[in-house]
Amino acid sequence: MFKAENITLQRENSTIFEKLNLTINAGEKVVLLGVNGSGKSTLLKLLDGLVFPDSGVLFFEGNPLTKSALKQKQTNEYFRRNVGLVFQNIDAMLFNPTVYDEIAFGARQLEFDDVDARVRNYAELFGLTPYLQSVPFKLSGGQKQKVALACVMSLAPKVLLLDEPTSALDPASTAKFLEIIAALPITTITATHNLAIAPRLGERVIILDEKGTIIFDGSSENAYEIDLLARAGLII
Ligand SMILES: Nc1ncnc2c1ncn2[C@@H]1O[C@H](COP(=O)(O)OP(=O)(O)O)[C@@H](O)[C@H]1O
Ligand SMILES: [Mg+2]
Repeated sequence: MFKAENITLQRENSTIFEKLNLTINAGEKVVLLGVNGSGKSTLLKLLDGLVFPDSGVLFFEGNPLTKSALKQKQTNEYFRRNVGLVFQNIDAMLFNPTVYDEIAFGARQLEFDDVDARVRNYAELFGLTPYLQSVPFKLSGGQKQKVALACVMSLAPKVLLLDEPTSALDPASTAKFLEIIAALPITTITATHNLAIAPRLGERVIILDEKGTIIFDGSSENAYEIDLLARAGLII
């Protein structure tokens, strides 16, 4: 699905990634762990074609994902249709007058012919049906997070990139969300620093240290070792 080859990325004179290599296969459920500032959000933005490497190449389904590739209408539509990112900062995603319009936005853009059914289906899944006519920015943090998830999931992408998707959810909503993700037969890459939910988000774990270096990439069985987590700063 994705292949990152020797990706280096600098931002304002600091190096966020240096020679990062990574392959993500179709259908994998990946948990991306790391402390604040380790580069989780930036990595998800790279995978979503919002940030581009200074050197190295990122491939999506075998083709380089570059700025110029994404300027081609067909490539852009195919990529946006199939790769969805739920931002860490949800407020940056919500701008429509109602929850209904918010969830419908992507499906309308992509000219789907079953917009209404999609909106109602995903609103119901996240318990948002009573809020379809509400103003998104007036909802609670957790409700906004659910709207953002419904927006992206309603496009039925091949890949879901989730940036701390449960940070505002209460325990019951978190449990429901974990069930929904586990049941999705698609590639998901979920960034979190929440070790309580991490084991339920995927079988493959990638751990970034505070310098943006991958210090572990392997199975969930071996990821949650005290020394490793301490090295990543995830436990004290
Ligand atoms: N737009 C930006 N401009 C400059 N530096 C940035 C920008 N976004 C992130 N960074 C820096 O990149 C590093 C990684 O940030 P981020 O990807 O947000 O980490 P995480 O999501 O793991 O907390 C941090 O040092 C942060 O300060
Ligand atoms: Mg982040």
